[in-house]
Amino acid sequence: MDDQVLKSHDETARDILRANDRGGYTVPTAGLYPYQWNWDSVFAAMGFATFDRDRAWRELETLFDAQWPDGMVPHIVFRADEPSYFPGPSVWQANKGPLPSSGISQPPVAATVIRLLADLDPGRAERLFDPLDRWHRWFHAARDPDGIGVIAITHPWESGRDNLPDWDKPGDAIDVSGVGAYTRRDTSLVDNDQRPKKKDYDRYLALVQFGVDRGWDPARIAAETPFFVADPGITAILLRAERDLRAMAQTFGRDTAEIDARIARLEAGHERLWNAQAKAYVSRDTRTGELAPWATSASFLPLYAGVTARKAALLETLDGFAGAVRFTVPSFDPRSDLFDPLRYWRGPVWAMMNWMIADGLARCGEDTRAARIRSDTAKLIRQSGFAEYFGPVGAEPCGGGGFSWTAAIWLAWGLSDTKEGPC
Ligand code: DGY
Repeated sequence: MDDQVLKSHDETARDILRANDRGGYTVPTAGLYPYQWNWDSVFAAMGFATFDRDRAWRELETLFDAQWPDGMVPHIVFRADEPSYFPGPSVWQANKGPLPSSGISQPPVAATVIRLLADLDPGRAERLFDPLDRWHRWFHAARDPDGIGVIAITHPWESGRDNLPDWDKPGDAIDVSGVGAYTRRDTSLVDNDQRPKKKDYDRYLALVQFGVDRGWDPARIAAETPFFVADPGITAILLRAERDLRAMAQTFGRDTAEIDARIARLEAGHERLWNAQAKAYVSRDTRTGELAPWATSASFLPLYAGVTARKAALLETLDGFAGAVRFTVPSFDPRSDLFDPLRYWRGPVWAMMNWMIADGLARCGEDTRAARIRSDTAKLIRQSGFAEYFGPVGAEPCGGGGFSWTAAIWLAWGLSDTKEGPC
C-alpha cells in the first residue's frame, strides 16, 4: 500500500514543512516559489510552532534578517539564485537591505503570529518587538504618506492577492510599453488557467522597472506611481497587527502612545473603504478616488482587525458568497461575471485567508459561520491535498502542491479534529 495512504494528515503536513525547509527559512513550495516569501514564512512559523518551537522562531528571525534600514521587510528574500523563478534578484535590483530582496513588502501578519507564539518564548518575542514596530511605522510613512488611515499597495504583489479584479482598472494607468520580451517560469510549472494572464504580468514587470528606476525610494514611488491603491486587506491586517503589537508593548513595559495613534488612524481610515452598495470594505484607487464595485475575501478582514461597526452588512455579503459556492471563502465574489473559479485570486479559496476570516468571525461571536469556514478548509484539504489554493465549487487542487501555508494552517488550526470522511 502507498505510504501516503497510511500517513495521517498531520504527519503529511509536518513532512511538507520539513521538505520545504531550506535551513532556517521555508519556501512556499519547491520550484514555483523557491525563495523566502514574507507572509508565507510567517504562516509557516505557525505550523512549525506545533511541533518544533525553535524552528518556528528561526523562521521569523530569518525573515527579519532581511529588514531594510528604513524598516521595510521585503516580500521576497533571495538567498540564492534560483532559475525556476522569474523575476529574480537581477530583475528587482533592490539592494537596499542586508540581503538580496524584492523592493516591496507584503501583508504584515507577523506581529499577530508573534503575539500568538510569545508565551512559548517571551525573550525571542521581545527581541522582535523593535523590528516589528519599525516595519509598522514604515507602512504608515511609505504607504499612507498623507496619514489618511488607509494603506496603499504599490504593486499587486504587495497585497499578496496578485491578480484580483480590483487591480485591473487602476492597472490601466500603468505604461507597459518598455517591458520588452520575457519568459515566465510559473506557467511551465502550473496550469496556465490557474495563473495570472500575460496582461497582468506585463504590468507586474512594468511596476518593478518603475521601482528600479526610482532606486526603490518609497517617497518617490508614492509621489510618482500611477498605481497606488488602498487595499482593505493590508489595511485590516496592519490594524490587527498594531493591536497585537500594542498588547506585546504592554507585556514588555513599553510606551504605547505611538501605536495608539496609529491604531486610531487606521480605525478611522476604514470608513474610507466602505462601499454601501457592495456592502463591503473595498479597495480604493487613490489616484481617482474610485471605490471597487464588488466585495472580495479581504472585505471580511476588518472583523479580524476588530472593526465591527458594519458587521451586519458584512455578514449578509459573506452569506451571499457562501450561498453561491460549495466551499467558503472564495477570493472573489462568486456572483460576479469576473468570477473565475480556478484562476488564482479571481475565485479560489485560500486556507490562510480562511484562518484570518474565521478568526475575525469568532472574535465577534459568529461561531457558526467561523465553524463552517474551518470545516470547509478541512474538507478541501482532505479531498484535494495541501494545494496552494482550491476551487470553491469543485474542490480542485490548484497552483503549487505540497504548499507550506496550507500545511501550516492544517496544523495550527488543529484541523485533524474535524470529522473524517467524504464531503
Ligand atoms: C508570484 O510570483 O506569483 C508571486 O505571487 C509574487 O509574489
